[in-house]
Amino acid sequence: MSGEVPGGNRDLTPITLEHTSVTPWVYNQLSRTKWDERNPCIGCGALAGVARVCPEVRNFASLAGDDAIRDDVLESLNTVERHRFVPRRAIPNAYENRPLSIGWGQTISQPYIVAMMTDLLQPQPDDVVLEVGTGSGYQAAILSGLVAHVYTIEIIEGLAEQGGERLQRLGFENVSTRLGDGYFGWEEHAPFDSIIVTAAATHVPPPLIEQLKAGGRMVIPVGSQFATQWLLLIEKDDDGGIVARQIMPVRFVPLTGER
Ligand SMILES: C[S@@+](CC[C@H](N)C(=O)[O-])C[C@H]1O[C@@H](n2cnc3c(N)ncnc32)[C@H](O)[C@@H]1O
Repeated sequence: MSGEVPGGNRDLTPITLEHTSVTPWVYNQLSRTKWDERNPCIGCGALAGVARVCPEVRNFASLAGDDAIRDDVLESLNTVERHRFVPRRAIPNAYENRPLSIGWGQTISQPYIVAMMTDLLQPQPDDVVLEVGTGSGYQAAILSGLVAHVYTIEIIEGLAEQGGERLQRLGFENVSTRLGDGYFGWEEHAPFDSIIVTAAATHVPPPLIEQLKAGGRMVIPVGSQFATQWLLLIEKDDDGGIVARQIMPVRFVPLTGER
């Protein structure tokens, strides 16, 4: 990462890093991050690219108010081979900390965003999770080893087919895929312990709130394509009350569909 960091600390004007925006303060933190070879993190292993990503992931963890990204989340990031989820031409770049094109105008998200969103869900081994926006299948694969079952919906036919076939071929047996509009959730398998939306909605879809269990968590980017989008953490309390927290400004492709 390179470039000038405009503004002072905590300036909230987003800076675009490929398809993701961060504030100048975060950008500054990322730019200053140095990979320390004497102190490797658990998520790094032998993959040099992932090693570069991990310190950045840890910086984001403190922004979410946690001490650190959970070790099992980093371990999952290290275990799932990202190069298996990108088109052949993008394989040389698969371990870089950036989104990559997966065709149909869509992207596989940056590894640190995947780690951050996964950690925010606080996945548990018995959880049943809904993902909206299968894309390459990478996020579903990361969740697969952390929870009991992942249901994932994709609206673009070619991606739904490709993502489903890939997840099956790679042996992610606890992931179910389907073609459809994820705005409406997946009612047959609701309620879900957590829901992750990987495209930006203009508002939080009411059907997803309904399909979230009491005590459940949803992570969703909200905002229009041309304005600041915020990553929201939504928690449903035991009485069905909703608390939403803004985590950080981001930029995602839009949640599409007709409604
Ligand atoms: C940033 S990409 C997701 C990346 C994906 N999670 C991965 O790991 O590769 C967003 C995805 O959401 C899909 N999408 C957009 N609107 C949708 C909708 N209403 N229902 C389901 N999927 C949708 C897009 O087609 C795209 O594949």
